[in-house]
Amino acid sequence: MTARIKQVYNHLSNSTREEMSAETWQDVPLAPPDSIFKLTAAYKADTYPQKVNLGVGAYRDDDSKPWVLPVIKKATKILLNDPDLDHEYLPITGLPEFTAAAAKLILGSDSPAIVESRAVSVQTISGTGANHLGALFLSKFYHWDGPKQIYLSDPTWANHHAIFKNVGIEPLTYPYYDPKTIALDFSGFVGTLESAAPRSVFLLHACAHNPTGVDPTPDQWKQIADVVIAKNHYVFFDCAYQGFASGDLNKDAWAVRYFVEKNVPLLVCQSFAKNAGLYGERVGALHVVPPTKDAADRVKSQLSVLQRSEISNPPSHGARLVALILTGSDLFEEWNRDIKTMAGRIIAMRKELYRLLTEEFHTPGTWEHIINQIGMFSYTGINPDQAKALIDKAHIYLLSSGRISMAGLNSKNVRYFAENLDKAVRGEL
Ligand SMILES: Cc1ncc(COP(=O)(O)O)c(C=O)c1O
Repeated sequence: MTARIKQVYNHLSNSTREEMSAETWQDVPLAPPDSIFKLTAAYKADTYPQKVNLGVGAYRDDDSKPWVLPVIKKATKILLNDPDLDHEYLPITGLPEFTAAAAKLILGSDSPAIVESRAVSVQTISGTGANHLGALFLSKFYHWDGPKQIYLSDPTWANHHAIFKNVGIEPLTYPYYDPKTIALDFSGFVGTLESAAPRSVFLLHACAHNPTGVDPTPDQWKQIADVVIAKNHYVFFDCAYQGFASGDLNKDAWAVRYFVEKNVPLLVCQSFAKNAGLYGERVGALHVVPPTKDAADRVKSQLSVLQRSEISNPPSHGARLVALILTGSDLFEEWNRDIKTMAGRIIAMRKELYRLLTEEFHTPGTWEHIINQIGMFSYTGINPDQAKALIDKAHIYLLSSGRISMAGLNSKNVRYFAENLDKAVRGEL
């Protein structure tokens, strides 16, 4: 401030200054808090000793603690002892060793897309960044026949709606979850694929659907691919849970690889938040698979331009860690063991919850979905009133949709949860 402006400014009363600054933002409405963060805040404020947090979207060990994967500890040590590492900018599209290995991980090293050099891979700010960059790229370059629209599963990860709206793509929904069967609404899903205009864009969760935990079977995926091909649709795969779902990295990539093999036009968003426990490192990738190398070169050039204006250069630490665990054979094996530990614990919790509900408490209703669903999340099938009773009366925090994070259950609290879920279902809580 120049001396004169300062003089005038100091002359104004405090309230006049407040009025002036309030006026600048008077049309900004107060946004509602994010429902999951609100839930976490309520859990933290609760002093009840047996409280349980089933809202958390991150892996927890059997003591409800975050888990640093042993392989990540090892890779961190290697990086710390590397005298050649510096803090220079990475290339705009990311660490080449990371993007190349990440593409092989999701597409398979013998993928036609990789063999024919037509997979375009860009390092992103975890899976969210991959979704955003993919959305932005489609918004600018997809050959839209009509309005810019994308079909999202109903329900889906809530952020999908915001991410597409932000880049001017209107989210539509396709039926996915049937509350009556607590399973996939396959005919509704395929019906929308069939009735949508040709060349529509569909977002598909590659595995471990968030929030329902309900995935198509391989046979259903094949039928989905048939309709997608017949209608010339574009597939926007979101893969945030590779390996984390079944414990097997290849198995969880099956749908993506099948679609690539069938030449479905697609892109894949990849996250290493869950499967490498690198939530805060923000390491992910966007892989676009055009039909030719020539198209791939053009796509890559445009993605570089977009990335440049969005983040300039992606961060290096997480990418270096993942590059190490993907390219070192011993480390890769160890990572696979770590993944099995996480997926195995979650699957064990599903089995134990199912056993308690069916064999011990004889809870009314069917509970097969608890063991049939896959990944971290489960739609329990309970209604919002029952979910509220669990929060208010039993200090068990979950979403009003009845979604629980299996990672929040452990050998010490699963019985307490089952007991109270049983009471909630009976209306006795
Ligand atoms: C379906 C889905 N996509 C993407 C993400 C992105 O996660 P992140 O940005 O932490 O990789 C998540 C995280 O919960 C998710 O569930």
